[in-house]
Amino acid sequence: MKTLTFALTKGRLASQTLDLFEKIGITCQQMRDKDTRRLIFVNEELGLRFFMAKGPDVPTYVEYGAADIGIVGKDTILEEGRRLYEVMDLGFGRCRMCVCGPESAKGLLERNELIRVATKYPNIARDYFYNRRHQTVEIIKLNGSIELAPIVGLSEVIVDIVETGSTLRANGLQILEEVCPLSARMVVNQVSMKMEDERIRSLITQLRQVL
Ligand code: PRP
Repeated sequence: MKTLTFALTKGRLASQTLDLFEKIGITCQQMRDKDTRRLIFVNEELGLRFFMAKGPDVPTYVEYGAADIGIVGKDTILEEGRRLYEVMDLGFGRCRMCVCGPESAKGLLERNELIRVATKYPNIARDYFYNRRHQTVEIIKLNGSIELAPIVGLSEVIVDIVETGSTLRANGLQILEEVCPLSARMVVNQVSMKMEDERIRSLITQLRQVL
């Protein structure tokens, strides 16, 4: 039996992913140990192998077949645009991709003005403004704490993830437009989907039953 390899996303999605797999009898206790420096974990009995990677790298591992299956946020799937199959919405990690800014930026959007948009997701932002809104904007890529940008005058608005909205509220910003809903998804390598069709289908069926 071929070992199936899973690429899981480090951070926010990690513990919910492990909880979900535990519900269908897939355990990998060593992965719960936050202090371990080990990168890869094997469950010999089940013929499975797991590793944790940074979100944006998960679709890369899956496209190249270094992982057969990935668990990753829809935001990352959209941003990375890799060739893979998105097979399932896992229902956790629910949040929204939004255009946010101060109230004063509302008019700039309404009048389709040439504004600056700061974001960790330049491809999503470009697609939204150019293809959906037909508005020309300047996109500025940042790597975190995106809410800072309109406060210090780097950009008029941001495109970012909103979960509870507390980061926006704490910084005097608000949601101006919603781009799309997000949640954790299961993605599969295109060749693995054919070669390991039966095992992957049975995994999906089991997950559906517990979700
Ligand atoms: C994310 C996102 C927002 C925040 C939204 O940032 O970029 O800043 O969470 O969550 P909320 O609506 O519940 O406040 P993250 O904490 O991942 O860190 P980052 O800013 O460094 O990307």
